[in-house]
Amino acid sequence: MTVLITGGAGYIGSHTVLALLEAGHEVVVLDNLVNASRESLRRVERLTERTLIFVEGDIRDRTLLDQLFSEHAVSAVIHFAGLKAVGESVQQPLSYYENNVAGTLVLCQAMQAAGVTRLVFSSSATVYGDGHPMPLHEGLPTGEPTNPYGRSKLIVEELLRDLADSDSAWSIVLLRYFNPVGAHASGQIGEDPRGIPNNLLPYVAQVAVGRRDCLAIFGSDYSTHDGTGVRDYIHVMDLAEGHLCALHALAERQGVHIWNLGTGQGHSVLEVVKAFEQASGQAVPYRIEPRRPDDVAACWADACLAERELGWKAWRSLAEMMADTWRWQHNNPDGYR
Ligand code: NAD
Ligand code: UFG
Repeated sequence: MTVLITGGAGYIGSHTVLALLEAGHEVVVLDNLVNASRESLRRVERLTERTLIFVEGDIRDRTLLDQLFSEHAVSAVIHFAGLKAVGESVQQPLSYYENNVAGTLVLCQAMQAAGVTRLVFSSSATVYGDGHPMPLHEGLPTGEPTNPYGRSKLIVEELLRDLADSDSAWSIVLLRYFNPVGAHASGQIGEDPRGIPNNLLPYVAQVAVGRRDCLAIFGSDYSTHDGTGVRDYIHVMDLAEGHLCALHALAERQGVHIWNLGTGQGHSVLEVVKAFEQASGQAVPYRIEPRRPDDVAACWADACLAERELGWKAWRSLAEMMADTWRWQHNNPDGYR
């Protein structure tokens, strides 16, 4: 089938495009390149020996979307496009609501007009908010995300539920990601953040490759086994394969379906640093700093529902996540530049 992938030049998008091409699907990517490079998709084409259609443009551009749907026989949309930096969302909330909420609205309007009613949406564990016991399962009520980025994800989830309730033709999947890390095993594509990385793994990798001096660990006084924050890190290729399973599930289901994409296991910051040092053979100097505002002590998934209903399970180990991150970073010290 032909699948439109918004944000397909980005980190998770490019790995998912690769998985879809390898599975024999036709892919149209729409991306405005605000946080990505065209080079990621060139490499995906080389790795898969397949071609894709790339449209440089914005999900908020209704005219462009109408044209895209009239030119390509799109059966389903995987919607990654959006802004994702938590801190920046506090500084620039309007940008986040504009891209993430208004952008999704325009995309859905164009899909409705074109009669395309299958959608996979990139949501986040952040919609659970704080205060639930771990692990987080899909039956829990959503909470109150602590920043505009998180709220934009929750608003979109609610928008999509209302849409599916209004018309049984819609079939929508909300995938709640935990902490995507790693890279394709080729070392050719990976995460290439612009500026100072916000997330742990890209920061660790840039320290190891010599682009940054020292990792700041935000807090060592959490009530976790070693005092540092615990998260459910999931290999980006496991995540990409989860999207393939969700795409197949869409064909058989109506309404809204929610699946966590995580491993079900938590690892602390110190465990990640140690695993990275082992995988890379590089030292990762660190210092302990105060907690980052609004960080939770621990967060990990109950990933049983996706296994039961999708037949999907994340199987790549923490060691593999670290080795693949290092291969990408080592081969491409300056990312795609
Ligand atoms: P990314 O920034 O690498 O990818 C997002 C892509 O969307 C980029 O290529 C960017 O250029 C594009 N884009 C942004 N706004 C656009 C617009 N208005 N029109 C067209 N293209 C636009 O991020 P990612 O890590 O690959 O994340 C993909 C999705 O998954 C995002 O929606 C993100 O919020 C969500 N998510 C990511 C994480 C994570 O930790 N990486 C966790 C949970 C959810
Ligand atoms: N951390 C550090 N130093 C750093 C970066 C992170 O110690 O330089 C720590 C954090 O304090 C946390 C852990 O590493 O304990 C993971 O932090 P990340 O920023 O990599 O990931 P988060 O879990 O904080 O954030 C992720 C996504 C967000 C999403 C959030 C909640 O990046 O988009 O999960 O789902 F909102």
